[in-house]
Amino acid sequence: MSEELAINGGSPVRTEPFPSWPIFGKEEQTALSRVLNSGQWGRLSGDEVAKFERRFADYHHAAHGIAVVNGTVSLRIALLAAGIEAGDEVIVPPYTFLATATAVVEANATPVFVDIDLETFNIDPKAIEAAITDRTKAIIPVHVGGLPADMDAIMDIANRHGLTVIEDSAHAHGAEYKGRRVGSLGHMGSFSFQSSKNFTSGEGGIVITSDDDLAGECRSIHNCGRAEDGQWYEHHIISGNYRLGEFQGAILNAQFDRFDEQAARRDRNAKYLVERLSKLSGIYLQKRGDDCTRHGCHLFLFRLNPAELGVSREVFLAAIEAEGIPACAGYVLPLYRQPVFTNLAFGPYTGYKNNHPDLDYTRTNCPNCETICTEQGAWMYQSLLLGEQKDMDDIIRAFEKVHANLDSLAEPAEKTVGATA
Ligand SMILES: Cc1ncc(COP(=O)(O)O)c(C=O)c1O
Repeated sequence: MSEELAINGGSPVRTEPFPSWPIFGKEEQTALSRVLNSGQWGRLSGDEVAKFERRFADYHHAAHGIAVVNGTVSLRIALLAAGIEAGDEVIVPPYTFLATATAVVEANATPVFVDIDLETFNIDPKAIEAAITDRTKAIIPVHVGGLPADMDAIMDIANRHGLTVIEDSAHAHGAEYKGRRVGSLGHMGSFSFQSSKNFTSGEGGIVITSDDDLAGECRSIHNCGRAEDGQWYEHHIISGNYRLGEFQGAILNAQFDRFDEQAARRDRNAKYLVERLSKLSGIYLQKRGDDCTRHGCHLFLFRLNPAELGVSREVFLAAIEAEGIPACAGYVLPLYRQPVFTNLAFGPYTGYKNNHPDLDYTRTNCPNCETICTEQGAWMYQSLLLGEQKDMDDIIRAFEKVHANLDSLAEPAEKTVGATA
């Protein structure tokens, strides 16, 4: 099929926008007015956040939910609740948003980066096992893009070594591993409700757990170190106010009523895309095993292999974008190569010096993460998956069109070389 690509002056497959995000309506307006008029704007006097905590914990098969201001603080609170101390090591993947690792630094501990699996983009349990030392205290698996990590293997390692597992589920609201919802598989689960997330109130986060003691610690830490049965001005541990507000609680309750239909639609559309796009050589879609009974579908992840395609990821994605399909390279730096880590720019958090005076992240190298970040990884965002089947057909047509016309996509650098040769 020879068709002029849009990037070369042809007509794009699509000019219409995809669904915008967030989706809201009169339910959110009514809920916000209700809180406004009640005058109960804070979590301590209102009932929206408390109601949401109950619903979210139940939905994720956990006994407790503690809503907080964002999904970075929720990770840090979970680490502190687990008793992480200065110099302790916490194993994290390098293919994730910054917060997974900086929350560890802000708990005064030391992130230890281990590689991910090339096919799933998720942390590799074999790499976890190899990185354990007598200072390792916790593991933070991330369910990348919404695909549950290999939780049976991770919990087996954690149980054998007495480690706490905090699932960073910021991408994975409602995702299921063997029929159980993520966030409740480890000791604690952390979620974000930041604007881009599949479940959002603009900002916000939550820790869920079925461990009563950990829940009590989290509740105290998020509420200025108070004890549940203590006096109001009685504070037991160093902490601050990380409580979520009632306006956000109201939005989250209204969003809850939309969530199941949206999650089902994303999953259905993602499966449809997988069926068609997996036929294209040189394009490798995030591998979903049978353990994943529901994908969170925050990101539609794939790898573009330049050796097979004959063009770089950047050139391929530019061509897809020109056809009217938003797509991007995603995380382009393994976290250990971020300046904050290479320069150990940790501010007052110098706990690592206790046990790691020679800490040097420039020596860290995770080959699969390097390949994905620097050469092959690519994303489409969740809002595309909220379209109709005809919107998915446009995505498929754009990929097929670009794939069929790779020869017309010369690399700028190659053109220059060719011109001078
Ligand atoms: C994997 C992951 N963890 C943690 C966070 C932090 O969440 P927040 O932005 O709510 O602090 C994010 C947000 O992008 C994330 O993607």
